Amino acid sequence: MLVLGIESSCDETGVALVQTRGQGVPVLLADALYSQIDMHQAYGGVVPELASRDHIRRVLPLTQQVMHRAQRLLAEVDVVAYTRGPGLAGALLVGAGVACALAAALGKPVMGVHHLEGHLLSPFLSADPPEFPFLALLVSGGHTQLMQVDRVGSYTLLGETIDDAAGEAFDKSAKLMGLPYPGGPHLSRLALAGDGAAFKLPRPLLHSGNLDFSFAGLKTAVLTQAKKLGPELESRKADLAASTQAAIVDVLVKKTLSALAQTGLKRMVVAGGVGANALLRSQLNSACQQRGVRVHYPELEFCTDNGAMIALAAGMRLQAGLETLQPGYTFDVKPRWSLAAIG
Ligand code: KG4
Ligand code: ZN
Repeated sequence: MLVLGIESSCDETGVALVQTRGQGVPVLLADALYSQIDMHQAYGGVVPELASRDHIRRVLPLTQQVMHRAQRLLAEVDVVAYTRGPGLAGALLVGAGVACALAAALGKPVMGVHHLEGHLLSPFLSADPPEFPFLALLVSGGHTQLMQVDRVGSYTLLGETIDDAAGEAFDKSAKLMGLPYPGGPHLSRLALAGDGAAFKLPRPLLHSGNLDFSFAGLKTAVLTQAKKLGPELESRKADLAASTQAAIVDVLVKKTLSALAQTGLKRMVVAGGVGANALLRSQLNSACQQRGVRVHYPELEFCTDNGAMIALAAGMRLQAGLETLQPGYTFDVKPRWSLAAIG
C-alpha cells in the first residue's frame, strides 16, 4: 500500500510517501519539507494566520516533489493521510482540506493522524528502530509527556507538564535573552560557551513524587536573573543559557529515570523537537547505559515536525488493523487532542 502523508500543524509543511510491507516497518520512499522559520522570525514566534497562508503555498509543490523523487504517480497512492491535530486550527485545516481534495480527485480514502503519534513512532524511521514495549519521552514545543507504549495504538500517559512545555521553556527563556525564534537550538548553541552551574535556577516538581512537569516558574526565574544582571547580561548570557538548559535537562532526565524505575521498561525513545538537544541526549545516554536501558532517537531530521512521521504513523496504524477507512470526504481537525484518547 502507498500512503501519502501531509503535515501542517504548525510552522513546517511536510509531505512524504511510505510503502507498507506486511508486518515490517513501512518504507519511506521520499519526503520533502518546507520550514517557515525565517518568515516567523521577524515576529519572534509563529503567527498562525501567516502559517496557514504559507502552508497553502507550499503543500502542492512539495507533494509534486515527493512523487517525483519517489518516481511514483499520484494515481498509485492508496491512502492520503493528514495531521488531524493537535496544532493550530487554521494550519491543520490546510493539510486536511488538501488531503481530502486530493483523495476525492483520486477516488481514494483519507485518514486523519495524531501529530504526537507521528512523533512517538518517528524513531521507527531510523536504521535502529526500537521494539515494543517502550517508554517514550515526548518533548516538543507544545507537549511534554512520558508515555508507556505497548504497541501501535496503545499509549498510556504516565505524566505530563501542568503548564509550559519543555520546548516552550527553551523558546521563552531564549526570547528573554534576546535570541531569535525558535529559541531552543539558539539557546543550546550559546550554552556551549557557558557554565551550567553559574546560576541556580529552580527545578520545579523535581521531588513531587509523580511524573508531572512544570516549566512556567523557570521562565520567571530566568527573567528575574536577567533583570538582576542588567547591563552585565550581555557578557553573562552564555552562562545564563547554559544554566537554563541544565535546569530543563535535569528535570527531564530525572523524571524519565523515575518513569523507567516505575514501569521496569528497558527500552525508551525520545521524540519531538527538544529530542534534538545534545545535552539531553548525552545525559540520558549515560544515565540509561548505567541502568541497562537502550535509548532510541529519531534521525535528527525527523525530530522536529515533518511529513515522514505522519505517513509512517498512518502506515503503521493500517498495518496493525487499527483503521477502518471510511468512504466520504467530510473532515474536521482537532486543535486540542489527547493522545491517550486514541486507540
Ligand atoms: O516537535 P517540534 O518541531 O514542534 C512541535 O510539535 O512543537 O518541536 C519544536 C520545539 C521548539 O520549542 C524548539 O525550540 C525545540 O523543539 N528544539 C530544541 C532544539 N531543537 C528544537 N530545543 C532544545 N535544543 C534543541 N537543539
Ligand atoms: Zn511536533
